[in-house]
Amino acid sequence: MENKEIRIGIIGVGGIAMGAHVGGLKNVKNCRISAICDTDTTRLKERGDILGIPEALRFTDYKKLVDCDEVDAVEVCTPNYLHPEMAVYAIEKGKPVNVEKPLGISYEQAKTMLEAQEKYGTPGMVCFSYRFRSAVRYAKILLEENAIGDILGVNVKYLKDSGLWAGRRLEWRFRKEFAGTGVLGDLGVHLIDMCTYLLGDIKKVFGTCDIIVKERKYLDSEEYGNVTTDDACNFIATLENGRTANFSISRCVLGHKNTITFDIFGSDGIISFDLNHPDELSVCIGKVDKECGGMHTVKVPAKYELSQEGTFVEIARGNKVECHPTIADGIKCQKILDAIQLSSETGRLVDVE
Ligand SMILES: NC(=O)c1ccc[n+]([C@@H]2O[C@H](COP(=O)([O-])OP(=O)(O)OC[C@H]3O[C@@H](n4cnc5c(N)ncnc54)[C@H](O)[C@@H]3O)[C@@H](O)[C@H]2O)c1
Repeated sequence: MENKEIRIGIIGVGGIAMGAHVGGLKNVKNCRISAICDTDTTRLKERGDILGIPEALRFTDYKKLVDCDEVDAVEVCTPNYLHPEMAVYAIEKGKPVNVEKPLGISYEQAKTMLEAQEKYGTPGMVCFSYRFRSAVRYAKILLEENAIGDILGVNVKYLKDSGLWAGRRLEWRFRKEFAGTGVLGDLGVHLIDMCTYLLGDIKKVFGTCDIIVKERKYLDSEEYGNVTTDDACNFIATLENGRTANFSISRCVLGHKNTITFDIFGSDGIISFDLNHPDELSVCIGKVDKECGGMHTVKVPAKYELSQEGTFVEIARGNKVECHPTIADGIKCQKILDAIQLSSETGRLVDVE
């Protein structure tokens, strides 16, 4: 099993598939992309030619790709509302599946994947990409070593300018029926996963979601339609130990292409991560009143870097891996997304369970 060649079928060959997935798989030994699927036939042809996929292995029906004998494992890279039905089909057919985040448009919809996995036992993973960053993995080790003592607070930001790009149309991600949430599920879910991965469960949330650009032109006409997903979301989360984490997420911040900052304040020090410096942590370690000596930069050893796609290939081979964002982790995050939306709608603190 250990080094078996893994032939990957990708469903949805849009932006993330051609970026992180194709790019990541290039560096993974003994695997290849054997088939692709997309309902956009122009894109299917163009991407099939780029990837050198034979015509017979280019599909418009995802079930045909999953059923194909030349596919061992499946990556689901379609809009959010399609993830559950596609992943469940792959799980039922015993094909290991790597699902893009968020897992679906609601907890009710997404949990079908976990139910199917419990029934069929097929391996699965969620693309919580930032968990694989060396600085995040190193932060986890420091936290496990209790390097900063008791957690007193967390401050997290994810900022982009992508909601303000001129002429951007009413794509699927701006419509609730296809995306579920906007920036909350698109960007915020990465932070929620990072927070639960590093610090444990989130118990309660209080949040507000805001649509800043209210209308956009439809994809195929000059008419305007309503944006129904959030452009900005701020929320406070209560951690297992009762302390709070403060999250600020927006796709309408000029000057920010993809900024993530994550500060964890402890009784004995601080750990800070900034995606603009992905191989570093800014830390103050030691009792704050004695040895800390202020913030300083730690270069994270290269050995902590891990490939998301390489991890999926190992999982598809049936091997155990150390950093594995599971379907259950994705469902946990989905529940938190639902709770934040409910909090925003009702103006109340919401218990995640
Ligand atoms: N992990 C990350 O950091 C990250 C980053 C960006 C996007 N994503 C996620 O990846 C997913 C896709 O996002 P994207 O930006 O690539 O979107 P996209 O619109 O660029 O690509 C989606 C593709 O799916 C295709 N598609 C739609 N319906 C289909 C169907 N029924 N069968 C087959 N193909 C179908 C579309 O034609 C399109 O080519 C989303 O869930 C998004 O949240 C994750």
